[in-house]
Amino acid sequence: TYIVTEQCIACKHMDCVEVCPVDCFYEGENMLVIHPDECIDCGVCEPECPADAIRPALSADDDDWVAFNAKYARLWPNITEIGEVPANANEMQGVPDKLKTLFS
Ligand code: SF4
Ligand code: F3S
Repeated sequence: TYIVTEQCIACKHMDCVEVCPVDCFYEGENMLVIHPDECIDCGVCEPECPADAIRPALSADDDDWVAFNAKYARLWPNITEIGEVPANANEMQGVPDKLKTLFS
C-alpha cells in the first residue's frame, strides 16, 4: 500500500485525490489518509503531492503509518475532489514534528 505521512498534516493540498483510480483517500480535518485495503499500489498519487507526503510502505519502519492510515480510513469520510486547501498550507510545508500538533 501507499501511505499518507506526517508532511500532509496542515498542508492537505488534495491533489492526490484527483488522480487515484480507486478513490481510496479519506479526509480528516487536517490531513488525508489512504485505505490500505483499497489502494492498488498504482503509485500515481506519489508525485502529485506538493508536500512529498505520500510514499509506498516498504519496510517495517512504515508500520506505524500503515496502522495510522488504516485506522483513520475507517473513521473518516471518503474524498474524491479537491476542497478548500488550508490558507497556511505553503507555510506548513516541511515543518518538522507536525504529528504532535494534529489532535491538539
Ligand atoms: Fe490511489 Fe494509486 Fe495512490 Fe493507492 S497508489 S492511493 S491506488 S493513487
Ligand atoms: Fe496531503 Fe499531499 Fe494529498 S499534502 S492531501 S497527501 S496532495
